[in-house]
Amino acid sequence: MTPTSTTATAESPYQSYVYAYPHKTAYRPLPERPRLAELWRGEKQDALSLYLHVPFCEVRCGFCNLFTRIGSPEGLTTAYLDALERQAAQVREALAPGARFALAAFGGGTPTYLSAAELERLCDIAESRMGVDLRAVPLSVEASPDTATADRLRVLAERGTTRLSLGVQSFLDGEAKAAVRPQKRAAVEAALERVRAAGFPVLNVDLIYGIEGQTPASWVASLDAALRWRPEELYLYPLYVRPLTGLGRHGAAGAAEPAWDAQRLALYRAGRDHLLAEGYEQVSMRMFRRAGAARASAGEYACQTDGMVGLGCGARSYTSRLHYSFDYAVDAREVRRIIDDYVAAPDFSRAELGWEMTDEETRRRHLVQSLLQGEGVDLAAYRERFGSTPELDFPAELAELAARGWLADPAAGRLLLSPEGLAWSDAVGPRLFSAAARAAMAEYEAK
Ligand SMILES: C[S@@+](CC[C@H](N)C(=O)[O-])C[C@H]1O[C@@H](n2cnc3c(N)ncnc32)[C@H](O)[C@@H]1O
Ligand code: SF4
Repeated sequence: MTPTSTTATAESPYQSYVYAYPHKTAYRPLPERPRLAELWRGEKQDALSLYLHVPFCEVRCGFCNLFTRIGSPEGLTTAYLDALERQAAQVREALAPGARFALAAFGGGTPTYLSAAELERLCDIAESRMGVDLRAVPLSVEASPDTATADRLRVLAERGTTRLSLGVQSFLDGEAKAAVRPQKRAAVEAALERVRAAGFPVLNVDLIYGIEGQTPASWVASLDAALRWRPEELYLYPLYVRPLTGLGRHGAAGAAEPAWDAQRLALYRAGRDHLLAEGYEQVSMRMFRRAGAARASAGEYACQTDGMVGLGCGARSYTSRLHYSFDYAVDAREVRRIIDDYVAAPDFSRAELGWEMTDEETRRRHLVQSLLQGEGVDLAAYRERFGSTPELDFPAELAELAARGWLADPAAGRLLLSPEGLAWSDAVGPRLFSAAARAAMAEYEAK
């Protein structure tokens, strides 16, 4: 039921996945190219998070619009790690001498596209250049089944990975094919066997719903196949079809969007109910955690307040006043150009693209990132940080959410989404964007 159009209707539950506010598509070139040393001066740096981006994959999946390229010509991964090392040294210089990291993640693309020896080097860069003690902080790494080989997993486990996230998408070969994900179930099962044998405290499995031909029964069959591995976490992603992706370019004629929305909502409910019955807790619309399981990132880092240092050409970084990144793209030729520019760059001491975090934007970000979690907004923490309440700061937005039945009855000191509000998280989030962020995102042209 893949639609031909990629624009969601106003009432679609699937407007946009708000994993960060504001979205990178709101970032604009910063004409003054501020120096990182100035951006980080005076920032709280005792519990930073480090993100290393690896923009390589073996294949380009039809649904994926992440910043990544297929394969790497001879020498490119080495050149990329060389650039990452140069960037790490310059960024570390811009931080305070006493800066401390409380959390680390390697994302992509597919970090395990790198060989075992290259992964060792990636860990070395994080440790020796950035000063992160990887064995002492939560470290999350993304992997795909075919690249999750025993030698790579051994390196990752040995260097302190606490959470290994495996992209599976579907255990059914026909559904993987419909999503243009070249993958066989036997390979997925073998990868899960290797991941479990490597002994990571937390295994996360990513699955996608809303694939053409997927039914509640086939969806639950995929979930059950995942549950046999007793994953500590599961991420259930509604399928999005975005511009310039394989599915977006060749969108086969299919059902109208309302039918696709209805399919995704029904699959969401079936998946949620199944996991709750199987002893999982719902952390957010997408995330489920096995009750009593180890937590991957129960650390000191608080995503609403602490800074993030992103390295690699697709990574974002956050200070309290500016979110910034390099250029990025989806189209294969543009991605290759940006990666080539990155590996050739001698100077990483300035921010290129960004979004200024005003006081209003900081409050919005705090609200969006807390409300979309099952735990909701801790009103005392909000008051302590801003001397106010979400109702005082955003009366119109919250009144609309309440009128739609998306807010739960007030609970002890928390502002929470109702179960229906959680189901509509991807429509709730965009309603909390500022007019300026909304306008910038609307103006963005995919490339
Ligand atoms: C970086 S990938 C995971 C690791 C690895 N590259 C892989 O694919 O196995 C991030 C996850 O985002 C989800 N995702 C990406 N694009 C999506 C889309 N258009 N719709 C739904 N989920 C998507 C997929 O579940 C994917 O596993
Ligand atoms: S889903 Fe994963 S493997 Fe597929 S193209 Fe995206 S990042 Fe690469």
